[in-house]
Amino acid sequence: LYKIPATTLFLGKNLIFMEECQSTNDHLLLLCQKEHLSEGSLVVTSNQTAGRGQRGNTWQTQPGLNLTFSFLLRPGFLSVQDQFYLNIFVSLGIADYLTSEAPGKVQIKWPNDILVNERKACGVLIENQISGTRLALTVVGVGLNVNQKEFSVPHATSLAIGTGRNYELASVLPVLLQHIEVRYLQLKERKLESLRESYLANLFKRNQPYTFYTADVEFEGEIVGIDEIGRLLVKGPAGTRSFDIREIRYGTFR
Ligand code: BTN
Repeated sequence: LYKIPATTLFLGKNLIFMEECQSTNDHLLLLCQKEHLSEGSLVVTSNQTAGRGQRGNTWQTQPGLNLTFSFLLRPGFLSVQDQFYLNIFVSLGIADYLTSEAPGKVQIKWPNDILVNERKACGVLIENQISGTRLALTVVGVGLNVNQKEFSVPHATSLAIGTGRNYELASVLPVLLQHIEVRYLQLKERKLESLRESYLANLFKRNQPYTFYTADVEFEGEIVGIDEIGRLLVKGPAGTRSFDIREIRYGTFR
């Protein structure tokens, strides 16, 4: 089904396709323990049966309709301090691809959900192995809703819903990977400031009043940016505070 992309330099050149698999992140991590895999190695499946999401959630997707894949990076050039740039480059790469299909409709919801028309079309799960102060190995898992039309939650969507077209998954993957790779190469070239600026420019609900939830309170606030380690900066009634992913939830995405 999936071919080795001709459009990339390294991403997906070692492509492992599985008809069915529990989680492409888990499978790739397992392979990494068994053998040396080159950077950019990619596992893709048509039917992910036990997909994992952020915050211990599951990622459910109808077989054969969407993209579910994971790829391996060795970002040894990045310090643990700067690991949020992994969220930034992946989100931007995916947003760039989606914008090429659905201009004007794409935003990034912190930390790394990609929205089309204010609904989530793509989720990303990044898992790192750290060696000292450096990132030794990173598995990036991407779940992009492509052709699915019905969802169990109202805040989910797909590329097909956003554009009114259907897509061939095998044709989407190489173009998507190309966009992701371009952003990774910018990160490798340490274009940190410009990556950060593009990320902020595309951030959902930045500088707009919105409802947030912490463990015990609901409050009206405004996202003013991210701090030096990528936590969300929200200005609320009690001033500006930074939140990590376990500490805050957004309005209708609760
Ligand atoms: C989220 O939004 O919570 C992240 C979802 C990430 C889902 C992808 S699908 C491919 C890869 N394998 C997994 O088990 N999860 C990621």
